[in-house]
Amino acid sequence: MSSATTLIGHVTNNDGQPDLSGNMFPVGTEVDVTALQVTGQIPAGLQGTFVRNGPNPLFQPIGHYHMFDGDGMLHGITLDNGQASYRNRWIRSRGLQAEAALGRSVYRGLSEVMEFPDPALVGDAGPVKNPANTHIIRHAGKYLALWEGGLPTEVTASLDTVGEYNFNGKLHGAMTAHPRLDPRTGEMFFFSYSPVEPVIRYYVADASGTIVHYTKIDIPAPVMMHDFIITEQHAVFLDSPIVMDIANMGKGPLVQWRPENGTRIGVLPRFGNADEIRWFEIDPGHVQHFWNGWAEGDRIEFSGTRFEHPDFGINPASEPGASTADNTSPYPAKFWVDLASGTAGWEQTDDLGGDFARFNDDYNGVRTRYHYMSAAVAPERRLGDFDSIVRYDDVTGDRQIWNSGPSGHVGESVFAPNPVTQSEGDGWLLNAVYDDATDRTDLCVFNAQDLNSGPVARVHITQRIPFGFHANWFAAD
Ligand SMILES: [Fe+2]
Repeated sequence: MSSATTLIGHVTNNDGQPDLSGNMFPVGTEVDVTALQVTGQIPAGLQGTFVRNGPNPLFQPIGHYHMFDGDGMLHGITLDNGQASYRNRWIRSRGLQAEAALGRSVYRGLSEVMEFPDPALVGDAGPVKNPANTHIIRHAGKYLALWEGGLPTEVTASLDTVGEYNFNGKLHGAMTAHPRLDPRTGEMFFFSYSPVEPVIRYYVADASGTIVHYTKIDIPAPVMMHDFIITEQHAVFLDSPIVMDIANMGKGPLVQWRPENGTRIGVLPRFGNADEIRWFEIDPGHVQHFWNGWAEGDRIEFSGTRFEHPDFGINPASEPGASTADNTSPYPAKFWVDLASGTAGWEQTDDLGGDFARFNDDYNGVRTRYHYMSAAVAPERRLGDFDSIVRYDDVTGDRQIWNSGPSGHVGESVFAPNPVTQSEGDGWLLNAVYDDATDRTDLCVFNAQDLNSGPVARVHITQRIPFGFHANWFAAD
C-alpha cells in the first residue's frame, strides 16, 4: 500500500471505552492544509516542522482498547517565513496494511497481545502489530517513528511511510522510543528490553547511522524500561520493578509493580560491555521520562518524573468500559550516583505532578539549567491530562507556569533553540494545545524564557489533534 492510498477511519465508541472518549477519539481523515490562520506572530527564527506522534486507530479495535495500542499517526506543522501548514498521515505499518486489505481490525491490543491473529489473514505482517505510535526522531538524515516493542519505522520528511528499519540487520528486534542523541558527536545511543527475556540490549550508532557498538546486559526480571540518559562518558539505566509477566497473560495484569524486586541505577561506559556495568540500589520507584543527565568528576546527576508506584492499566479488564489505571501522578525528582563511594540516591524536587520531561536537546549529556514539563494543576485532572506547561530554572529555583485554562489540554512541549544565539535557555517552546470548548487544537509557540506572557503565536489547526505521545522539532536545513 503506497502512501498515495487514501485511508478513512472506521472507529466508533459505542462501547464507551475510556481511551476512545473525548479527544482520545481518533480523527478519520488525512489532510493537507496551507496558510493556516495564526494569532500573534510566528518568530522569524522559527523555521522547520513540529511533528507529534500518537495513537489513532484506523479500524474498530477488538476488545479492550488502550491508548498504547492505536495505529501511529503523525501530525506535522511546518513553519516557513511566518506561514504555517499542516498535514497528518497514518503510519502505514505492515499490520495496518494487512488490516486495510481486510477492511477491519485483526490485531488485539497490548492487554491481549498474545492472542495472535490468524497467520493466514495477516501473512508476513507477523503476529504483533508495530504501530510506531510513540515518538519521532531524526538521526543521520533518517526520520524514524518509534515504538518500544518493535523496529523503528522510517518515514519521509513529508510523513509518508518508507517501512521498518533495522540498521542494515544490526538491530535485534526492538528499539526504545527514547534514544539519546549527542549533538557534539552525532552519535545515537539506545536500548531495548524484552518481555520474555530479562535483558537490556544496548546500542550505539555513529553519526552516519551505523551501529558501531552493541552489548546485552542481564537483569533479574523482564521489566518495562522506557527511557534512559547519557552523560559524556556513560549510559545510565534505571532498572525499576515494573515487571512484564507474559505467563499472567489473560489471567491478570501484563505489567505488575513489584517493589520487593528493588530499583537499581546501572552505569555503563558509553562503549562498555555488559561486564563493565555498575549497579547502585535506590528506593523503589519508576521513571517513565527523564530530563537530562551529566557527569562531573565522580558524580553523575540526572532527573526525571518519578512514579512511586506506576500503573498504566495494561490489563484485560472484564468490561471494555473499565479503566484500570490507578491515576497516581509522577513527580519531578533528581537522582545522583557517586562513583567513588559507590553510593546513589534521589530526592523529589517539586510537589506538582507532571510528565513529558523535556529540555534543550542540544545539551543532551551535559549540565542543563532549564527543564520543561507538562503538569496537571487542577486536581480533578486524570493521569496524563495536563493543563499547564512548567519551566524550571535550576539555578534560581524559579518555576514558571502557563495554564491553558479549564477547557485547555496541553501535550508535550518541545524546545526549538534560537539558531542565532544558541544559548541554552533561548528559544521557543512548541505545544499542541487542545481546547474542548472549541474542539480544536492550536500549536502554541512560547518564548521559552517568558512562559508567563503566554503564547507569542497560536497556529490554528483546522482539525483537532487527538491526545498522543511525543513530539519533536525538526529545524529546516
Ligand atoms: Fe515516552
